[in-house]
Amino acid sequence: MTLKFITAEEAASFINHDDTVGFSGFTAAGCPKVVPAAIAKRADEEHKKGNPFKIGVCTGASTGDKIDGELSRVNAIKFRTPYQSNKDMRAALNAHDAQYFDMHLSELAQDLRYGFLGKINTVIIEAADVTEDGEIILTSGVGIAPTICRLADKIIIELNAFHPKEIRGMHDIYEPADPPYRREIPIYTPSDRIGKPYVKVDPKKIVGIVETNLPNEGGAFSPLDDTTMAIGQNVANFLVEEIKSGRLPKEFVPLQSGVGNVANAVLGCMGENPDIPAFNVYTEVIQDAVISLMRSGRVKFASGCSLTVSPEAMKEIYSDLPFFKDKILLRPQEISNNPEVARRLGLVAINTALEADIFGNVNSTHVSGTRMMNGIGGSGDFTRSGMLSIFTTPSTAKDGKISAFVPMVSHMDHSEHSVKVIITEYGVADLRGKSPVQRARCIIENCVHPDYKALLTEYLEMGIKGHTPQNLNCCFAFHQELAKSGDMRNVDWTQYNK
Ligand code: COA
Repeated sequence: MTLKFITAEEAASFINHDDTVGFSGFTAAGCPKVVPAAIAKRADEEHKKGNPFKIGVCTGASTGDKIDGELSRVNAIKFRTPYQSNKDMRAALNAHDAQYFDMHLSELAQDLRYGFLGKINTVIIEAADVTEDGEIILTSGVGIAPTICRLADKIIIELNAFHPKEIRGMHDIYEPADPPYRREIPIYTPSDRIGKPYVKVDPKKIVGIVETNLPNEGGAFSPLDDTTMAIGQNVANFLVEEIKSGRLPKEFVPLQSGVGNVANAVLGCMGENPDIPAFNVYTEVIQDAVISLMRSGRVKFASGCSLTVSPEAMKEIYSDLPFFKDKILLRPQEISNNPEVARRLGLVAINTALEADIFGNVNSTHVSGTRMMNGIGGSGDFTRSGMLSIFTTPSTAKDGKISAFVPMVSHMDHSEHSVKVIITEYGVADLRGKSPVQRARCIIENCVHPDYKALLTEYLEMGIKGHTPQNLNCCFAFHQELAKSGDMRNVDWTQYNK
């Protein structure tokens, strides 16, 4: 079958008001760029004519600005799942202009197959290559592309020449069967290849191909500051002690590490620590630190869902593909984040908290319990199922006015039953085997900023009865005080404990 080349505007004309559109990619990696921008332009024009134009958007995780930014700025998103980190999208969903369903990333593909989220009408897929018989070679992120390509009626390809065709072989495309026919996912080490290097589709569904030549959006890391470095060192030192004590095997176990600067610093510090053996990574996003640690031989293999790297690291990978293709597999998020595999491999899972309470519950998503930040992402997939789940966070935010540790989290994503260790720039709270009161003492002693230690100790010692001594009159006093005076340090318990 001959493939048809079209313009981005022609591609956008296939999208109708109220459609649900699926996009390839995971973070900005692997996301289409020119067709979403053309859809945003079309939505804006329709709105100006007085016509409604809003679509549902399903992606792998967050996206580049061309999807979440441009579409939300013209109020063209009706529904969004599963994760976002764009400031304009965040504003839209906190204002209820877009309805947001924040979910575990490993579950999205199967929930779409089960029909839980309705029909996907059209998908837009960034590809490095496509053949006339319907083999699509994806680019730097996989996300939910294999599933949405199968489920959708129409497929639009953005063929992006920035990504070399020789990337073929870096992907491992596998979709499990649905219950009651599902078997085990046969991954026993991170480097096990179980699927195909391409997504196979019915070529008749490909309605057009739009040619581009554009790098991924975003991807730069901030310079590491003292707090970030101290957290990274504390994680590395803690893991060394775990190996020495025999609680982690001396061969080590694969590592999952979350998104952002802290995660990148943790990996860097682990790589530099001579007491940690060269290790494998089984994670969601492969960041810059993994690439440089591969070069130095400290990371042996990385399985992930995307190459969420800086432009420099992307250039390095593409200029030496034979070296990196031996050491990297990109998989659908249903597999990269799969709880069965995470439990089997025994991952050390390291993710970042927005806030935690002194009893070990973690809020990853909601500022002051109401405003969505990004979403739970893959943190739940790994935290519940890994061998050892660690949360990192700076002890304070906003120049010390906000304590990362509060009496009761204002929203809970990860409960005390899954959170095993919390690490800040001050130290490590090992919560394993401890009762709520023991956990609280351990967190206050090791992780809390000095400005908040006395306040939280007083809270614990208010004489409340029960296994978990929460004072329901003032468990949210830190948040109330922040709203009132702008500084949690101003809490006076006598004002709240009435
Ligand atoms: N209350 C209010 N604001 C807070 C806060 C709190 N308790 N803690 C942090 N903040 C603010 C920071 O001041 C910062 O604000 P700014 O953007 O205005 O500077 C912002 O929140 C982000 O904080 P930062 O310390 O830069 O965190 P980060 O970039 O490392 O992100 C999370 C932290 C929790 C938002 C991020 O890790 C996340 O989205 N996690 C959930 C998904 C996940 O874990 N994915 C990985 C799975 S593989």
